[in-house]
Formats: sequence, C-alpha cells, structure tokens
Amino acid sequence: MHNQNAKGAKIGVVLTDPDDWTASTFLKNIRKRGAKALPIVLSTLSASISTSDFSIFNADLKDLKLDAVLIRDVGISFSLEHISFKFDLLRQFENSHIPVLNSTTAIQNAANKFFSFYLFKLAHLPIPHTVITSELEVALRTIEKFGSAVVKPIFGSQGKGIIKLESTQPESEFASKLTELLKERGVLYLQEFVPNPGRDIRVFVVGEEALGAIYRVPRSDSFVSNLSQGATPVKCELTGEMRELAVSAAKALGADFAGVDLIEGEGRLFLLEVNATPSGKGIKRVCGIDVTERIIDLLLERVED
Ligand SMILES: Nc1ncnc2c1ncn2[C@@H]1O[C@H](COP(=O)(O)OP(=O)(O)O)[C@@H](O)[C@H]1O
Ligand SMILES: [Mg+2]
Repeated sequence: MHNQNAKGAKIGVVLTDPDDWTASTFLKNIRKRGAKALPIVLSTLSASISTSDFSIFNADLKDLKLDAVLIRDVGISFSLEHISFKFDLLRQFENSHIPVLNSTTAIQNAANKFFSFYLFKLAHLPIPHTVITSELEVALRTIEKFGSAVVKPIFGSQGKGIIKLESTQPESEFASKLTELLKERGVLYLQEFVPNPGRDIRVFVVGEEALGAIYRVPRSDSFVSNLSQGATPVKCELTGEMRELAVSAAKALGADFAGVDLIEGEGRLFLLEVNATPSGKGIKRVCGIDVTERIIDLLLERVED
C-alpha cells in the first residue's frame, strides 16, 4: 500500500498537542513513508490578503506550501470569530485543490449534533428520538414523553455537559435545571435515553471499512462512556450490523475516517454520533490496530504525483 506519491510530499498535520498519541503517531508514520510531516497549530497561523496576494504564514513568517493536510484536531476556541477563522484557513487549503482529510464539511457536520442527526435521518439510519427547542414548555413535554432523557450541548464532545433527566423526578426539579441550561445555551438538545447493557461501542472507520471496535464501560457512578470521562475500553468483535451502521454513518457525513459511537438498545443498535477528529489511542491499546497507518494510506493515495 506504500505509495510513491509519498516521497518528498509535504503533509501538514493540524493538531493542538504534538504529544497526543494520535497526533504524534500521524507525524511518525508520515515520516516513515518518506514524506515530510509539518505540525500545524491553527491558532499560530496568520493570513495576509490584498487585491493581488493571498498568503498564510506562521510565526516564523515561512509561507506554507503543502501537498496535503491531515486534520487531527482543530482545538477549542472561545469565540465564534476564532473558530470560523480556523475553519476558513482549512477551507482555503481545500480551495487550493490539495487533499484535506477529513474535509471541513465532514468535521462541521459531525461536530453539530442536530445537523448530523438530520443527515442520519436522510440516510435512514437508526437514531434515538431527539427534540431541539428553545421553548421550556416543549422541553418539559418532551421529558414527560421520553421518560428518561439525556440533555447534551449541540456542539459538545468528550461527554462534557451531558446530563440525564427522569420524568419521575418532581417537575420543578428538572424545570429549574432546564431553565438554567436554556440561559446558558439558548437551545436545548433532548434525547431519549437508550436503555443499554452499561456500555457503548466505538467503531473506527477508515474509507469504507470498519477496522475495529471497542466497548466503552462507564465508571460505576456515570452513564457517560467517553474514555476521557474515565470509562474503560474493552475489545469488541465487530458484527455485520455494527460494520454496516458505522460505515453508513461516516458516509452520511462525508467523513473519510471516523470514530462512530453506537449503543445497544433493546434488540438493535442505535447511532449516537460520529466523531470526525477521533483519537486512535483506545483501539490501538485494546485491539493493537494502528488506524493512523490506514488514514495515511488514504491521504497519500490522493496526493498527485
Ligand atoms: N441517548 C442516549 N442514551 C444512552 N446513553 C447516551 C445517550 N446519549 C449519550 N449517551 C452516553 O453519553 C456518551 C456521550 O454522548 P455523545 O452523544 O457521544 O456525546 P460526546 O460528543 O460528548 O461524546 C455516549 O457515549 C453514551 O455513553
Ligand atoms: Mg461520543
């Protein structure tokens, strides 16, 4: 699979922490192929634009001339302006006709838990019933209907800011919690809680293939199974249903590689989300699969001679 296009190619790796397992393995494995790997921290890039010129440069004022871009991690931003500047920098790489993995569209689709669900629905994929509203009354009626509900940020990750509400609690209790969240977020994302065997499934997809999966078992005091929240990874044998759902989910968002979260409901799987900037560490540790190699193969196949 080692591609001749790799020789001498200059690959930008968008990252925030060069010591993170996925970022450092991307850098190491790109270099192993004989290509150059250039770490790019988006918040250190500047743009210069005039009628006749456009350039992007880093703190050392070196113009960036890249053959491809691999995105590990865009990083958090505290303002809409900052995050949109980062995405505009990436879009400009796309506009200059070099391969960018994942595409900015895929990353934005995946980051948005409303729009991604809309795309999953269009693709006929099984998802838990979800209501998005800024109306407290609608939210209260939804919790009554769901019985057990999770409330999540639309742009959330790593299991942060997710709570579970039960309709058996006194209404005043969850009404005050929802009012507080509405003030903070302006909009609520309410989802039916999927009764599950105390774990979820993270499937790693590259191209059109599911490479492996792990169960993630939450800490005993939590229902959130993100590894970053202290959950334990356990090897999971992929079934046909898992493969098919995970590959279709990544495809629905246009992601070339993805960490797809599934959960085992009663008798069938549900899709929870697609992460288009996933960590490869858990699956390497538990299954011995280095997904970065396959992602680099895919990227280098798209680099022109
Ligand atoms: N509808 C749900 N039913 C049961 N558990 C859920 C549900 N939604 C989320 N969870 C739990 O919370 C975790 C994080 O939710 P997820 O939607 O993947 O958001 P994040 O982007 O923060 O990872 C899931 O991996 C799962 O363990
Ligand atoms: Mg998740």
